[in-house]
This record gives sequence, structure tokens and C-alpha cells, in this order.
Amino acid sequence: MKPRVLVTGGAGYIGSHTCKALARAGYQPVVYDNLSTGHRWAVKWGPLIEADLADPDAIAGALAFYEPIAVAHFAGSAYVGESMRAPRKYFQNNVRNSLNLIDAMVEAGVQRIVFSSTCATYGIPASVPISESQPQRPINPYGESKLFVERVLGWYAHAYGLHSIALRYFNAAGADPGGELGEEHDPETHLIPLVIGAALGSCPPVEIFGADYPTPDGTCVRDYIHVSDLAAAHVLAVGILNRATGARAFNLGTGNGASVKQIVECVARLTGSAVPHRWAARRPGDPASLVAEPSAANALGWVPQYSDLDTMIGSALRWAASRDRILAAAI
Ligand code: UFG
Repeated sequence: MKPRVLVTGGAGYIGSHTCKALARAGYQPVVYDNLSTGHRWAVKWGPLIEADLADPDAIAGALAFYEPIAVAHFAGSAYVGESMRAPRKYFQNNVRNSLNLIDAMVEAGVQRIVFSSTCATYGIPASVPISESQPQRPINPYGESKLFVERVLGWYAHAYGLHSIALRYFNAAGADPGGELGEEHDPETHLIPLVIGAALGSCPPVEIFGADYPTPDGTCVRDYIHVSDLAAAHVLAVGILNRATGARAFNLGTGNGASVKQIVECVARLTGSAVPHRWAARRPGDPASLVAEPSAANALGWVPQYSDLDTMIGSALRWAASRDRILAAAI
């Protein structure tokens, strides 16, 4: 029997790509998702438990029935801007529901968890690139909620032997190189799908938020990392937790930044069409530059394969071309 991994949020963007990678690595992913933002069509590599992490009995039932060796915990809310307007949602979905999950794990004796964290836990970085040892001082409820769970995991490792790896994602982007999965948010607020939509004429002209940042071309710099490279890191983390103990955290980024302007130029080059855009004011809460120092994850053997801009944006373009067919077939 294949070892099972319970994947909360496994019907979502990064969770579904991770299910594919887990299945390829010989695990049986079991998705736990309330489908509030995830998609039934994205669950292809194992069973779907349609349930909420607000329901402790449902979590206990899933752990007892499937007896997973580990949990990969993606489920949560992840819009920085929304978290400023609706912090309650973030503390309920990301803090309370994570506590429900890890308490149920402690009760059931499931001792390993890979947790989706974020570079938003660093806030305005003291310096760039950002290493794991930099102070974590979030500037929005989203980052605060993720940091709280990281800290809880530290204490639970000590007190209850719950072993964890927190993965601090930088900017997830791109789509499954096999064309089966991709980014499907509603509403979409992320830069790359909006730039692609503008180039293809399926979205309005993209707004470029800020031209006066202290960066080489004046636009914000981010460390974009391919979603399948993030997925591979989760498979590696599950393997490491088979032998490692304690609570650890790793940055997942390439160490290279790309500006908003460079993204627009790359999409224009790959599509051969100009990207309709307009210059707009800065978006509140956006740091000028967020770039990972990823050497700790690299030392574990994690080396991004798909995260150069052309490959990443090329995969997102292929998804944009095939998604209507895949979504229509799923109805
Ligand atoms: N941007 C634009 N126009 C848009 C959308 C975005 O110029 O229409 C810019 C933003 O200002 C930012 C960059 O493009 O500089 C990337 O923005 P995204 O919205 O794609 O991503 P964020 O960096 O805001 O957020 C991502 C994840 C969060 C995570 C955060 C860490 O979505 O979950 O990185 O900073 F917390």
C-alpha cells in the first residue's frame, strides 16, 4: 500500500500541483478541501474529502480513516489586500483552522506536517536577498496569521513531538508542464495571469502599480518561482520528515528577482503581441523588492527546474490556451 499524505487545500493551485508530484513520487495524496476556492476538476490523483477545517470532527474522521504518514497543509486564505480589509477571515481560516488541524494530528498521533508559509512573514525586509534568519515582522494580517502558525509549530515540536517543515513561498507562478493544471483564481489579482490576459485580450489592460520604486527600472521586484518547483519541495520535505525531527523553515525562491516591467516585456516577447497596460499608483503594502536567499533549501537538494522566466511564463501561456477546454470537459 502506498503511504498516504493528507493534502489540505489539495484542490487549489499549489496544492493540486503537489498532489501530482506526490503521486509521481509513490505517495497516495488524499485531498481535504471545502472547495471554497479550489476546484473539483483539479483533484485527479486520489480521493477528495469535501470538508472544512473549521470542523474538528471531520478532520479527526479523515485522519482515523486514511491514517496518513504526513499532512501537507495548504488550505487557507492568501490575498494580502483582502487580509487588510477582512482580518477576521484570515485569523479564522489560517490560525483557528490550522490549530484545529494540528490538534487533531496530535490526538491521532500523526506526527509530520509540511506547512505553507510565505515571505509575507518577513514584512519589509531588513535586507535583500532575504535569509531565513532575518527578523519576521509582518505588515499585514495574512503574514501575521502564517507567522503565528509557524510559531505554534515550533512549540508543538517541543511539547508534542509534532515535526514540521514550514515552506516560505515567494511568488508562485506558472503551470503544470504536462498541461493538466494551472492557476485558476476568482478574482484573479496576480500579476502574471493578468499580464497574459491583457496580451491575449481576455482581460482589460493591466495596471502597473508604481513606477517610482527604488529598483533598477522603478517597478517592484519579486522572486517568481514555478509552482511545480514548489510542489517538488513538498515531496522532498515529506521525505525529510521521515527522518528529521523538530520544526524547521525554508525559503522557496530562486534568488533572482524580476521586475513588473520585465514580466510585461517577457509576455510581449513570448506572445508576439504588445501588452496593453497603464501606469497606476503604488498598491498599498507592496515592498519594493522581495527576493529569497534560497541556499538552505538548495542544500537539501532542492534545485528549481522550471523557474527561469521564459519557461515559467511559457507554461502559464500554454495553460491560458488550454484551460477553457479542460474546464469545459470538467462540467
Ligand atoms: N502588480 C501590478 N499589477 C497588478 C498586479 C500586481 O503591478 O495588476 C505588481 C504588484 O504590485 C507586485 C507584483 O506585481 O509588485 C506581484 O504582485 P502579485 O499580486 O502577483 O503578488 P504579491 O507579490 O502581491 O503576492 C504574492 C502572493 C502572496 C504572498 C506575497 C508575498 O500572492 O500570497 O506574494 O509578498 F504573500
